[in-house]
Amino acid sequence: MMNLDFYKGKKILITGHTGFKGSWMCKALINAGADVTGYALKAPTEPSLFDMLGLASQMNSVEGDIRDLEHLLSVFESVKPEIVIHMAAQPIVRDSYKDPVYTYETNVMGTVNICEAVRRTPSVRSFVNVTTDKVYLNKEWQWGYRENEELNGFDPYSNSKSCSELVTSSYKNSFFTDEYYQANYGVEGPAVSTCRAGNVIGGGDFANDRIIPDCIRAVSAGQEIVVRNPYSTRPYEHVLEPVMAYLMVAEAQYKDKSYASSYNVGPNDSDCWTTGELVQLFCDKWNGAVDQRASAAGAGNAAATLNKASWVNKHDGGPHEANFLKLDCSKLKSTFGWSPVWNVETTMEKIVEWSVAYLTGGDVGEVMDKQIGEFLA
Ligand SMILES: NC(=O)c1ccc[n+]([C@@H]2O[C@H](COP(=O)([O-])OP(=O)(O)OC[C@H]3O[C@@H](n4cnc5c(N)ncnc54)[C@H](O)[C@@H]3O)[C@@H](O)[C@H]2O)c1
Repeated sequence: MMNLDFYKGKKILITGHTGFKGSWMCKALINAGADVTGYALKAPTEPSLFDMLGLASQMNSVEGDIRDLEHLLSVFESVKPEIVIHMAAQPIVRDSYKDPVYTYETNVMGTVNICEAVRRTPSVRSFVNVTTDKVYLNKEWQWGYRENEELNGFDPYSNSKSCSELVTSSYKNSFFTDEYYQANYGVEGPAVSTCRAGNVIGGGDFANDRIIPDCIRAVSAGQEIVVRNPYSTRPYEHVLEPVMAYLMVAEAQYKDKSYASSYNVGPNDSDCWTTGELVQLFCDKWNGAVDQRASAAGAGNAAATLNKASWVNKHDGGPHEANFLKLDCSKLKSTFGWSPVWNVETTMEKIVEWSVAYLTGGDVGEVMDKQIGEFLA
């Protein structure tokens, strides 16, 4: 069983805290009593999980651009964090085709800037850079990619994240060493890892061009869910899986630097689903929940008026997206005794639970506290 006791009172700085993963991470850390600072642009979506939960008033939330090194340095200097998790990014593949320069600026120079801020702030003892499963050169293999495989993402987003890995590696070699830190600060160097996670899903994602948000938007508008890429297989996992894995690695390497490395964080093989199968599962779970509410409330009751879900295949051939990329997570499993907690079916039940609360004016924060508790237990 995992717990977040370690984080009580710890100074942790999270970039990208206003985003989907960031909001779940902040919620869990605030619940655990951590001293949380966030650095990011405004929440990237409207509505957003971050604003909905009122997280800005429960933590030190700094609005800033990761490309602005001076601002980032001033925040590091005043906060003096012990742990840093870097998640700020332009994370959408299709947007990276529309604006490759911004994507590289944010994802590559943003990583240079965060590494630089860590280098100049010796209070940082543990730093985790969050990248993606898309960092690997995709050879369309049927078997899982391991951490020592070649890095070379295809599209600008994926490739910018491969670059982010390389930047981190160079800073590790050149600066985050005991020699460098002893000479400059009289302390040991920090522990630095990168984590490469697969596609995350969960309640509270409002991003464009992601399948679960598309499903929720469609049912709330009473429309069919349009699926443009029904045949592509993806490793899907609940957002709490990587969020908790990042925190597990950050804690482990804080206590023992020998854990600092690169780790894949992905679901079991049985949870690599095609988008079409995933959407069908959403429809089944959603419609089951709608029927259950209707029979509990009685016909004609307002509570019964959630729309039913259905989907349509509109394969558009869109910009290139890699067809299959499976992660081999043996390293995380053997090093930490880790394994995924929720399979895709359980994950979908959690998404439906969250989304029903959202669409019926329920307390989504309470749902998240409950789900975080269930996940950790
Ligand atoms: N969602 C996924 O399926 C997935 C999968 C693998 C990896 N990741 C990675 O996880 C991280 C978080 O992803 P997410 O899904 O929460 O994304 P998100 O879009 O919900 O959040 C992105 C965050 O980055 C911030 N940001 C963007 N540009 C910025 C800039 N120039 N300066 C400062 N902040 C900026 C946003 O304000 C937001 O807080 C990203 O690094 C992403 O690449 C996501």
